[in-house]
Amino acid sequence: MTDRYLMCAPDHFTVAYAINPWMKGNIAKDNRDMALRQWSALHGMLTRAAQVQVMPSAPGVPDMVFTANAGLVLESRVVLSRFRHVERQAEEAHFERWFRQQGMEVLRLPPELRFEGAGDALLDRGQPLLWLGHGHRSESACAPLLQQMLDIEVEPLRLVDPRFYHLDTCFCPLEGGYLIYYPAAFDAASRERIHARIPAERRIAVISADAAAFACNAVNTGHYVFLNRASAILVKELRSRGFIPRQTPLGEFMKAGGAAKCLTLKLNEARLAPARSVA
Ligand code: ARG
Repeated sequence: MTDRYLMCAPDHFTVAYAINPWMKGNIAKDNRDMALRQWSALHGMLTRAAQVQVMPSAPGVPDMVFTANAGLVLESRVVLSRFRHVERQAEEAHFERWFRQQGMEVLRLPPELRFEGAGDALLDRGQPLLWLGHGHRSESACAPLLQQMLDIEVEPLRLVDPRFYHLDTCFCPLEGGYLIYYPAAFDAASRERIHARIPAERRIAVISADAAAFACNAVNTGHYVFLNRASAILVKELRSRGFIPRQTPLGEFMKAGGAAKCLTLKLNEARLAPARSVA
């Protein structure tokens, strides 16, 4: 099946405030033309491998280009985000309108809970499991509620490095139950939970240089893995498992703390069947 993704035109993208460490020192330092070129290159690559829907941008919400944070999609339903920072809260209405126009059922968590969608809530690609990053943006209290609302097991993971403030900045489940991740971004108990659920031969731990280049912030469709940059080691690791890494520079968006995965939201998220136990 061809995957479907949502992207948002970058016309209003800029670094206008600092709500993560990447943005500090980068306010107004982005280059608009370069951002547009980089976004278009990613869009072009992804369009050749999948279907991409582009929603219009809006003035006053420069981070709306990061559609991963719109919500968490599962089948025809979406749990809408509720952003931690006031700077991003106005995006919620835009995303909600877009989802409703698509005929999707929009669900919400209780108003006191912060939740940043597919920035922090990532479906495993090998088992019916939802990973939830918390500690910076989304709250761990979302875990039992998401489990109930969506009828899927949720495994919470605590993020401990402020540079990796969303789960998708340091953790990327890949087709076939593989995983790219940066172990140091998690506390020890969370690392153990990852190890308990994903066998060693399916885990690809990246070095700090790859993590800092947002290599874990990858879009995986079929065999393709689109990312900002990957070291020779990571390229080899991915290729040896049958993946085809495709690098496309996204430095302008990294100034805002995002790269390939943040700029997309997968819209066709199916429910995986539980692995059959061998009798
Ligand atoms: N400036 C945005 C923020 O701090 C970047 C969001 C990146 N998105 C992501 N899914 N990691 O919220």
